[in-house]
Amino acid sequence: MDGRTLLKGVMFMCLIASSAGRELKAKDQGTIYNHTLATILVEYAATVYVSDLTELFTWTCPRCNDLTKGFQILELIVDVKQCLQAFVGVAPDLNAIVIAFRGTQGASIQNWIEDLYWKQLDIKYPGMEDAMVHHGFYSAYHNTTLRPGVVSAVKRAKELYGDIPIMVTGHSMGGAMAAFCGLDLTVNYGLRNVSVMTFGQPRIGNTAFVSYYSKWVPNTIRVTHEHDIVPHLPPYYHYFHQKTYHHFPTEVWLHNLGFGLLVLTVEKVCDNSGEDPSCSRSVAGNSINDHLTYYGVRLGGEDPGLCKIVMDRGLVAAYGKVDVDVDGTVILSRDIPASVLRMNVESNEERRSI
Ligand SMILES: *[C@@H]1O[C@H](CO)[C@@H](O)[C@H](O)[C@H]1NC(C)=O
Ligand SMILES: *[C@@H]1O[C@H](CO)[C@@H](O)[C@H](O)[C@H]1NC(C)=O
Ligand SMILES: *[C@@H]1O[C@H](CO)[C@@H](O)[C@H](O)[C@H]1NC(C)=O
Repeated sequence: MDGRTLLKGVMFMCLIASSAGRELKAKDQGTIYNHTLATILVEYAATVYVSDLTELFTWTCPRCNDLTKGFQILELIVDVKQCLQAFVGVAPDLNAIVIAFRGTQGASIQNWIEDLYWKQLDIKYPGMEDAMVHHGFYSAYHNTTLRPGVVSAVKRAKELYGDIPIMVTGHSMGGAMAAFCGLDLTVNYGLRNVSVMTFGQPRIGNTAFVSYYSKWVPNTIRVTHEHDIVPHLPPYYHYFHQKTYHHFPTEVWLHNLGFGLLVLTVEKVCDNSGEDPSCSRSVAGNSINDHLTYYGVRLGGEDPGLCKIVMDRGLVAAYGKVDVDVDGTVILSRDIPASVLRMNVESNEERRSI
């Protein structure tokens, strides 16, 4: 073995060692990055893109499987006009309420990304001094039917299950909405146990906003991937850092390290500044492809450019309640038996006792 091979071997062993401890604690913070949880939540962030509402509502879509098996949707909200979609449900395996928001659909993503360069910090976040955010992202959650739909479903879920954890997730623009939702549930509805995990989200507010945000929702993980362009936008100017957009912590940067034929994906848990220069900011944000894949899961609309819905109304009605209002909002909701989660707890105990 020559020196170089040996060095490679040693580096390889170090990498294995550093990625083996999959539950990594972010520096100076209580936030724990849990790899297993991330690979589950990314499935929900991907599933919310499905446009066949029947499959989604009954959780029978091709990807409604494996890691998300047994998920029970309480409410599925689609704002057809603005092309927004979200769901709220309970995940027996996680013993948690999961809320997921869809990002921008397929072919329009290019335009959406180009627009991101010019987004202004143009609205004050209510009740937080000096906190400014982007109006479009803010109102996609706050000024549409999504917010009341999500809030009422969370209330119903809490009546059934009590204080179980609430996990909010989303990809791209859906990540921005997930962050606003997590903050809203905490600040305006006094909920505890809210955590947020987003994938490839853009920046949404200024430094003042970020400091409030991270105080209220410290359990936030913002996953970025390689050269994904979206987390680089709207731009951050480090010399005007009071005035420009700023990310909130904690970033986890997924990137590949290659040694010849050997390529390893490393998950770097970044510092608590939100703008760790050694994470995604250390590379150029120039890839849309990297934006569309996280943990090997493809995220994005199946039908590029179209914001359409497919629904077998009869089937959905047999399963729950359908509301279609004049503005083109579709809300599917249903009650689920209180036993879903309790059964799971029991079966876990059984497994343990075997
Ligand atoms: C990580 O998440 C998984 C899935 O929710 C859970 O089973 C596991 O206990 C978590 N690990 C830690 C250390 O919290
Ligand atoms: C909310 O939406 C309505 C109608 O789309 C609009 O007229 C209003 O200005 C919006 N408000 C905010 C704060 O964005
Ligand atoms: C958070 O969730 C855990 C697990 O379900 C629960 O035991 C705890 O009481 C909850 N905490 C709060 C503050 O609601």
